[in-house]
Amino acid sequence: MTEMTPVTDTNANAADAEAPKKMVLPDAQTVTAVRHWTDRLFSFRVTRPASLRFRSGEFVMIGLMGDPHPETGKQKPLLRAYSIASPSWDEELEFYSIKVQDGPLTSKLQHIKVGDQIILRPKPVGTLVHDALLPGKRIWFFATGTGFAPFASLLREPQTYEDYDEVIITHTCREAGELQYGAELIESLKDDELLNEVIGEGFWKKIKYYPTTTREESAKMGRITDLMRSGEAFADLGVEPLNAETDRAMICGNLAFNLELKEMLEDYGLEEGANSDPKHYVVEKAFLD
Ligand SMILES: Cc1cc2nc3c(=O)[nH]c(=O)nc-3n(C[C@H](O)[C@H](O)[C@H](O)COP(=O)(O)OP(=O)(O)OC[C@H]3O[C@@H](n4cnc5c(N)ncnc54)[C@H](O)[C@@H]3O)c2cc1C
Ligand SMILES: NC(=O)c1ccc[n+]([C@@H]2O[C@H](COP(=O)([O-])OP(=O)(O)OC[C@H]3O[C@@H](n4cnc5c(N)ncnc54)[C@H](OP(=O)(O)O)[C@@H]3O)[C@@H](O)[C@H]2O)c1
Repeated sequence: MTEMTPVTDTNANAADAEAPKKMVLPDAQTVTAVRHWTDRLFSFRVTRPASLRFRSGEFVMIGLMGDPHPETGKQKPLLRAYSIASPSWDEELEFYSIKVQDGPLTSKLQHIKVGDQIILRPKPVGTLVHDALLPGKRIWFFATGTGFAPFASLLREPQTYEDYDEVIITHTCREAGELQYGAELIESLKDDELLNEVIGEGFWKKIKYYPTTTREESAKMGRITDLMRSGEAFADLGVEPLNAETDRAMICGNLAFNLELKEMLEDYGLEEGANSDPKHYVVEKAFLD
């Protein structure tokens, strides 16, 4: 059921009886933390609706009220798809967002502060879920840009480590600063007492992290697709190329990246799965183009 939470206290008392009626925001959640990573990227946390259940890797629609209609003054919710970056067990919800300067939503969303409210439609969906994959030995998470978000959830999901012996996360961005959210998150897993207790001490040693940049100098340069084609990525990681018997994969990036990598995985013999038909890999767009 959809929750309705008022944005503001509408229990008018004598003092504010004259004040104009304040808007009621449907499905409101309160911002509890905001962090800006670059001039194009930020992350934030919000309260979680008590009724919301989701699988790590899924996305929901979130947003703000749009501008009032010039004639009627009516406002409509302005919603966009967002991967939930926090794991399914977390008490709050985390999101990792782009800032598009003329973007209808993110031109405003980038200014949210602790205590503000956003709209969150509690209907999680998505293909980047463990249920869509057959059992395997090694899982690959392939991301570009904000496509890291669903993997921020899955890297903190106990099932990821229960199901696989090895977890490889690749993240390709234009600039080094765009890798920081992911790098810090992965580093923080080492000291995460709860996860080390629940999953097992040293669970994070299963992770192999492979960040690359394409337009700014960093420790590893190049698109992950090119680095796989040349064999450099496999040599760096000390693993064999993917095969359908042992390897499972999830892809989340821009459309061209998704299509190119999908074709490569098919060449390795992997087949695309779905919730209703689990196979070897799954794909989701990081944004619509
Ligand atoms: C399944 C799904 C999950 C998504 N999850 C996330 C998420 O976790 N974090 C997130 O920031 N966005 C995510 N998006 C994109 C998001 O829905 C919005 O497009 C984004 O918030 C920008 O909204 P906007 O209204 O400001 O601009 P829009 O009008 O939506 O987009 C304007 C343009 O900005 C570019 N753009 C949009 N989103 C991105 C992005 N994420 N990275 C780089 N360029 C982009 C595109 O060129 C687009 O045409 C997701 C999209 C889909 C389909
Ligand atoms: N990132 C920025 O600094 C920046 C700044 C201003 C505006 N923008 C705009 O924002 C939008 C999104 O930019 P973004 O950087 O977030 O995302 P993006 O363009 O999707 O690029 C993210 C990363 O994916 C790589 N990539 C793209 N296609 C690929 C493919 N087919 N195979 C493998 N890797 C691939 C890119 O490498 P390549 O670099 O080789 O393409 C880049 O490293 C673009 O329209 C861009 O013009 C971005």
